[in-house]
Amino acid sequence: MSIHDFPRQPLTFGPSPVHRLERLTAHLGGPQVWAKREDCNSGLAYGGNKTRKLEYLVPDAIAQGADTLVSIGGYQSNHTRQVAAVAARTGMKAVLVQENWVDWPDCVNDRVGNIMLSRIMGAEVRLDPAGFGIGFKDSWSQAIEDVQRRGGTPYAIPAGASDHRLGGLGFVNWAYEVEEQERELGVFFDTIVVCSVTGSTHAGMIAGFAALEEAGGRPRRVIGIDASAKLRETHDQVERIARNTAELIGLGRDLRDDEITVLGGWAGDLYGIPVQSTLDAIRLTGQLEGMIIDPVYEGKSMAGLIDLVGRGDIDQDSHVLYAHLGGQPALNAYSGLFTHTQALEV
Ligand SMILES: Cc1ncc(COP(=O)(O)O)c(C=O)c1O
Repeated sequence: MSIHDFPRQPLTFGPSPVHRLERLTAHLGGPQVWAKREDCNSGLAYGGNKTRKLEYLVPDAIAQGADTLVSIGGYQSNHTRQVAAVAARTGMKAVLVQENWVDWPDCVNDRVGNIMLSRIMGAEVRLDPAGFGIGFKDSWSQAIEDVQRRGGTPYAIPAGASDHRLGGLGFVNWAYEVEEQERELGVFFDTIVVCSVTGSTHAGMIAGFAALEEAGGRPRRVIGIDASAKLRETHDQVERIARNTAELIGLGRDLRDDEITVLGGWAGDLYGIPVQSTLDAIRLTGQLEGMIIDPVYEGKSMAGLIDLVGRGDIDQDSHVLYAHLGGQPALNAYSGLFTHTQALEV
């Protein structure tokens, strides 16, 4: 098996854009920094990394005769918003369990941004007071049973579409896409920086780039930045999914431990709560590049990239590809952080 043997339902516009972050590069004064933009990869409800994962789950759902996608996430889950969009696009229903993953005091947290978009797209949204956790939950099993009791055929998608046999494939495909874009652009990205929480984005990249390396490609570093504030769990999840995905695509060898790098230090104490470095990264990226990143995921991975460059952990002559995985709709639930302009001296 190779990635090309798996059925894929195209849900994106095609390859996502890759471009230089020139002013950020100049500001950081080190390696060349580029971005690959999953935040504008699709016309489905603002796209994002989940759109790519779902490209491989949808054919499986259709093959199983499913008529309802059932999934789970926090109130401001980008993933459940994408499940709602994909259900709408493919003529299915969506039932979404939305848990209180983030103790965030914004009074419109369960009304604006992602959750509002899911409601607009017709998903059945079930609010649940349970806290953060990416494992299997009773509320999710209940939702699956409820669909069955009503005579529907559910297709269960775990948090972030990660803990699913096919969950890593979307970003294996991403790795192949990067290689093709490198050929067109005449550049080689020796370092990839990606945000990691439920794990299959990073895991898929690891498996995909390993497969490309086996086929004669140059080795590169894929650095995951933990945004869950549970580094051990994130690492274990990335490792497990990467190994399973590598086997699924017929890598033909075990992944080495040094191929799995998840770094902590930028998540703060809690998933979903930005810290100063997150806010600094959001403002810096916005003010230098007009590129918007969110306080839950990308603000944390960008803070990681900035520090890794500053500390010299990424070589001066490197070409770094920042994977922008989307997530901006959640910003609406964090308006209290941005009531005034704080212009940076850059
Ligand atoms: C915007 C954004 N960035 C990063 C991630 C992390 O990706 P993953 O859950 O596959 O580790 C997510 C989802 O959890 C996300 O929505």
